[in-house]
Amino acid sequence: MKVFKTVSSLQKYLAKIDKNKTLGFVPTMGALHDGHISIVKKAKKENSFVIVSIFVNPTQFDKQEDLKKYPNKLKHDLELLKVENCDIIFTPETNEIYTNNIKSDSFDFNGLDKVMEGAFRKGHFDGVGTIVKKLFEIIKPNTAYFGEKDFQQLQIIKKMVATYNLPVQIIPCVIYREKDGLAMSSRNAHLTDNQRKSAPLIYQTLLKCKELFPEKEINIVKKFVKNEFENNKFLELEYFEIADTETLIHYSSKNKNKKYRAFIAVFAGTVRLIDNIALN
Ligand code: PAF
Repeated sequence: MKVFKTVSSLQKYLAKIDKNKTLGFVPTMGALHDGHISIVKKAKKENSFVIVSIFVNPTQFDKQEDLKKYPNKLKHDLELLKVENCDIIFTPETNEIYTNNIKSDSFDFNGLDKVMEGAFRKGHFDGVGTIVKKLFEIIKPNTAYFGEKDFQQLQIIKKMVATYNLPVQIIPCVIYREKDGLAMSSRNAHLTDNQRKSAPLIYQTLLKCKELFPEKEINIVKKFVKNEFENNKFLELEYFEIADTETLIHYSSKNKNKKYRAFIAVFAGTVRLIDNIALN
């Protein structure tokens, strides 16, 4: 496993890779958990080489305190990746990527960034677009892997790749869950015992929505979700939306030709948890 901190050393190494081989890319911000590892395993199966980036991207944080408290577990992450026989790790410092100009570019994501996560976390997706585009340009992977837990991010990356004609195939990866259904996230480690015990309600509620969806109107499903969280002492609903899978536009009535997904964000104290599910 080769570990690189600079763009030039990484590119020198990548230039030696046979052009007939495929390079799969798994971008991360570190603090790796089994969800990340499942993505690395998939990338390993589907490519000749796999590169993982570990970089806590400052421009995608809307709150400085979240950036400051973002866990750094580099040593542990590298050990996990070694077990997976990961080929290459890129773990640059902030200056290596942003050269003293820590700013996002602005993107036109055709409205995909204006709803849900984008509405509640201003500038977040410009930050994500900026770093992912930079990393694609540095690494030039054939494939890049993104988890469906951040489904909105996945759609935005696909849009960016199409807009800029970037020569990379985006591979979605199913949500990896704990045994009780909670979607895996680095943030789960910050939950108190009571919050952790309550958190499976998020996925249970999504499953119930999927059950209700064929028969009930969207506003009835939304009311159901609101009620589920109303009296919960440990979880506070931030948003619940039912949206078109492709455009992420919210609807209040159903069209049988469209594919819908339910999206949820919940606060457990100061920890923000998100999840989503395909409804039809
Ligand atoms: O999903 C993440 O961990 C981040 O948003 C990503 C894609 C690594 C960009 O910083």
